[in-house]
Amino acid sequence: MSSLFDFDTPSKYAVMGNPIAHSKSPMIHAEFARQTNQRMEYTAMQVDIGGFEQSIGNFQANGGAGANITVPFKQEAYRYATHCSARAKLAEAANTLIFERDNEVYADNTDGVGLVRDLTQNIGFDLRGKSILILGAGGAVQGVLGPLLDESPAGITIVNRTIDKAYRLKQRFKSMGKVLACGYEELDKHDAYDIIINATSAGIDGKLPPLVDNIVNSNSLCYDMFYAAQDTAFVAWSKQHGVNRAYDGLGMLVEQAAESFFLWRKQRPQTAPVINSLRKQIS
Ligand code: ATR
Repeated sequence: MSSLFDFDTPSKYAVMGNPIAHSKSPMIHAEFARQTNQRMEYTAMQVDIGGFEQSIGNFQANGGAGANITVPFKQEAYRYATHCSARAKLAEAANTLIFERDNEVYADNTDGVGLVRDLTQNIGFDLRGKSILILGAGGAVQGVLGPLLDESPAGITIVNRTIDKAYRLKQRFKSMGKVLACGYEELDKHDAYDIIINATSAGIDGKLPPLVDNIVNSNSLCYDMFYAAQDTAFVAWSKQHGVNRAYDGLGMLVEQAAESFFLWRKQRPQTAPVINSLRKQIS
């Protein structure tokens, strides 16, 4: 029989999403648990669209200790929680849940801090005073804008195909720093940005947003929140345009997982070896 104090029973965690089959999270958390001697199990669970509340409720009722939530359920996860962190509130989305006593559920969002840590600590890029261009204005952008603005950049321009969505994000975040919004056709008037972050879902189909040459030069850094075995379409575009520093989002994936792990287990795993072994595994 298991109880809260049964130390032989591993704590149960899961990642829920749709699709989920290719998720790297079980492997990442198994490696973190091994490094830090934690007894935990972590499984990937495919959840039907419309079935999130039931699935997460079952998992909680069956003794789950916490969960990661991925596309397309992050907004539902945020609403499911009974209380949350400031960064989840800003994002209106959660990728990490903690099940507490008395059926309380705490929600957090570690995506933004994962991106910022990969940029600042792994890549060594200081965001302070820098001009940032973000491609896209969907849920992925909403999740990272707060932590990016916390780094005191000179400004963030959000460019999106559907301009209204970029404007809505600008309105929502402008009290935290300089935020601009525009359409892709306005980019041809602009000088090169210090950093361009691709947060569109175009890369999933190997596509690119309509980009113009003048937004980058050899000093720019390009970062794709999407990752793949080979160069993503955006990383390839960046290299073709003379960018020396172009990265995909594998580091962000591992860093957001490390922050979730810390929230659950109060241990900070080493991320560099996990990023390296994942890179080898996917290529
Ligand atoms: P996510 O949660 O991953 O951000 P999303 O909310 O569906 O997913 O947002 C996807 C983003 O990628 C949007 O900004 C979308 O632009 P629109 O809002 O105009 O739809 C952007 N996107 C997807 N495919 C794109 C493409 N081929 N070119 C440019 N932007 C694209």
